[in-house]
Amino acid sequence: MPETHYRVEGILPLRGEVTVSGSKNAALPCMCAALLTTEQVTLHNVPDIADVHSLLEIFTYLGAEHSFAAGDGARPGMLRIDARNLQNKPLPHEFVCTFRAAILLLGPLLARFGEAKMAYPGGCVLGKRPIDAHLDAFTQLGCENLSTEETVSLRGRVQQTEIVLPEFSVTATENLLLAVLGSDHAEVTVHLAAAEPHVQDLCIFLRAMGAEIAGVGTHDLVLHGARLHGAAHTVTTDYLEAGFFALAGVLTGGDLRIRGVRPAHLHSFLNALTRLGVLWVWESEELLRIQSGVPLKACTVKTNVFPGFPTDLQAAMGVAMTQAHGVSRLFERLFEGRFGYLFELEKMGAHVEILNSHEALIIGPTPLRGRTVTSNDIRAGAAMVLAALCARGETLITDVQYIERGYERLPEKLRKLGASLERCIPAPVESPRAHDQIPRSRLRSVYELARVAHGVPRGASEKDL
Ligand code: EPU
Repeated sequence: MPETHYRVEGILPLRGEVTVSGSKNAALPCMCAALLTTEQVTLHNVPDIADVHSLLEIFTYLGAEHSFAAGDGARPGMLRIDARNLQNKPLPHEFVCTFRAAILLLGPLLARFGEAKMAYPGGCVLGKRPIDAHLDAFTQLGCENLSTEETVSLRGRVQQTEIVLPEFSVTATENLLLAVLGSDHAEVTVHLAAAEPHVQDLCIFLRAMGAEIAGVGTHDLVLHGARLHGAAHTVTTDYLEAGFFALAGVLTGGDLRIRGVRPAHLHSFLNALTRLGVLWVWESEELLRIQSGVPLKACTVKTNVFPGFPTDLQAAMGVAMTQAHGVSRLFERLFEGRFGYLFELEKMGAHVEILNSHEALIIGPTPLRGRTVTSNDIRAGAAMVLAALCARGETLITDVQYIERGYERLPEKLRKLGASLERCIPAPVESPRAHDQIPRSRLRSVYELARVAHGVPRGASEKDL
């Protein structure tokens, strides 16, 4: 696929109403849950994003039939999955190397076949992101871990009745739900489970398929496996996209209504908006109105597991902090590689001090200027779009394939609200403009961040990173 860029002309106030799409992080595990039954499953509100298509490619490889009618703005997407002919084949590197959510196939394959094998999944480089929590969880369940340096490999059925996850890992919790609930008669209590809205949504769907789950939305889940049957489910809306649009309204001085927002999903984020000085109100159920025009105040934001401030909105909040009066503090508690976007913001004129890989100061307000910037991952890419929307002049955002892994029809949605944003395919060779190059001094900081993120000892050479 040719590399695609976004060309954005900034400082146009966004006005009007936007409806958030189905959640990527809910749709992917629900799609994997469909593999637990030999009956047909129908999922509504599935977003038309690259990650959904990557997972469908793997389904085809494994023999699961599917048909996807993508949404068109007026109608949400609908996906039918029929996994009666599912086969158990090892998943090769090319299927999983850019797609971490492929790890969610371990649970269904173990439940259906008693063994699962795949190359190590890749995905956004946000830090070390080991899959230890998954392997630990499956081993505690009673599975044999036969993984090597090249492949993740597990064998066995659910034997244990009580396990404690090593941390509140979202996808490890989802994998456990899939492995246990797809195993007839299994009964397992899981402690330290993640409680994110997408984990809850998977539980709701699994219940519709016939599973019994107690404690949904808490960190202690009691699971009763069963022979699961076909069901229909509407994937929950994407609170991360809602947060993105809320900040787009704030940063462009616009007046936005965002439809499809579940209040319970965004408490911490909305509290942070209040601390930032933003005026927001629930106009009706699930309709959030963001009014701007009030000066923003510096604030402190610390990411945490749900219901804390979501790490996936940390970069978007970092952009808003560049426009706030005073010194804002950002603590990224979950990942050690999620501040790379701050270097891109610096290129645009932001004043940033990265204290370590988990803590940064943002001193504002600083006007942002259009530059060529890159998307480091899905959420950092979305943050670049926010920065471009409030920057003077034209911004070119590269590597938008990351953004398109997670946001449905973003350019179209933004244009409808009044933004000037074009998707474009660049000329093959581009010589970078002088101001787009990261100065040598800043490059050292990039290496330093990467060194910390990858656990490489101080003094190692740049090529070790
Ligand atoms: N972690 C902690 N403490 C905790 C929980 C997690 O330090 O209490 C660390 C872990 O060590 C891990 C990292 O945080 O390295 C991520 O945790 P988790 O295992 O929950 O991440 P994940 O399951 O791989 C999912 C989402 C991510 C999201 C994280 C955190 C999906 C497919 N992915 O990843 O989403 O950032 O949870 O909420 O659901 C995205 O959508 O852009 C994305 C990266």
